[in-house]
Amino acid sequence: MDTNAGQRDLDVRRLSGSLGAEIRGIVLGRASADDARRIHELLLEHLVLFFPDQHLNADEHIALGRHFGELEAHPNLDLARERPEFFELRAVDGAGGVADEWHSDLSCSQRPSKFSILQAKVVPPVGGDTMWTNAYKAYDELSAPLRDLCDGLTAFHNAGPHLTPERGYIHPVVRVHPETGRRSLFVNEHFTRRIVELSDAESTLLLGHLTRWVQQPRFTVRYRWSAGTIAMRDNRCTQHHVLNDFEGERVIQRVTVMGDEPRPAAALPRWETYGSKTATYWRDAEMRRQLKAQRPDPV
Ligand code: SIN
Repeated sequence: MDTNAGQRDLDVRRLSGSLGAEIRGIVLGRASADDARRIHELLLEHLVLFFPDQHLNADEHIALGRHFGELEAHPNLDLARERPEFFELRAVDGAGGVADEWHSDLSCSQRPSKFSILQAKVVPPVGGDTMWTNAYKAYDELSAPLRDLCDGLTAFHNAGPHLTPERGYIHPVVRVHPETGRRSLFVNEHFTRRIVELSDAESTLLLGHLTRWVQQPRFTVRYRWSAGTIAMRDNRCTQHHVLNDFEGERVIQRVTVMGDEPRPAAALPRWETYGSKTATYWRDAEMRRQLKAQRPDPV
């Protein structure tokens, strides 16, 4: 098989002050292990990468993904398909998707996805861009007292928006990236329901603040797709949001690399679960069930 040997000089063009780079000078359908190592380094640096004019078929797309780890099937999709690790997100006129809320992929699972590799198959004539935000920066720019508080908190995430609220997990509010060692905010408006150590009212306030904070334009990049572009994102330090403002058809194909359980920034739990004798606690049956499963001996 041909490789990209002799094409090591990648053209890397940054797309915003916070994250994102467009890469040219590589044919991903012929990516070697060396190419994958270089892409991996670039991904750790820029958090989301775009490779125009790739036009991979499903097998090439899967083969590219396997360079970066074991692939996972999406829990909401039919696993009996010929290629369970490859799926299409198809929408018409801005309808049919739930990705128009900021999120990182499958943060409601024990081991949220590591990388997602997307290919734009059909691009609407207008709209349908995707936005990404840099969750390291969002953490770094919090005030020192708020960073310290967030380091010691945990939050319950579940798949309520996907009509399976029983699928959930409690994660640290701040996670440490296993490769860069940097801290990032790990709560999002789509999957995160509740901060475990706070009352309902406090949790609503703080989650509302943090989930809006990560969305600030200065932390983001917005990308206009063209058919055949591959995008790779590191879900451990980014969130994304699809703009459902489009007219016509939009088809994105995706493979997803399995991740690890998020590592906290401090020894957790630092504080006990809020008010186990209060209505605030008893109201949230899904969170209680998850607490029991994860913390049989609560502090
Ligand atoms: C997703 O993978 O969450 C969707 C991204 C997109 O459609 O741009």
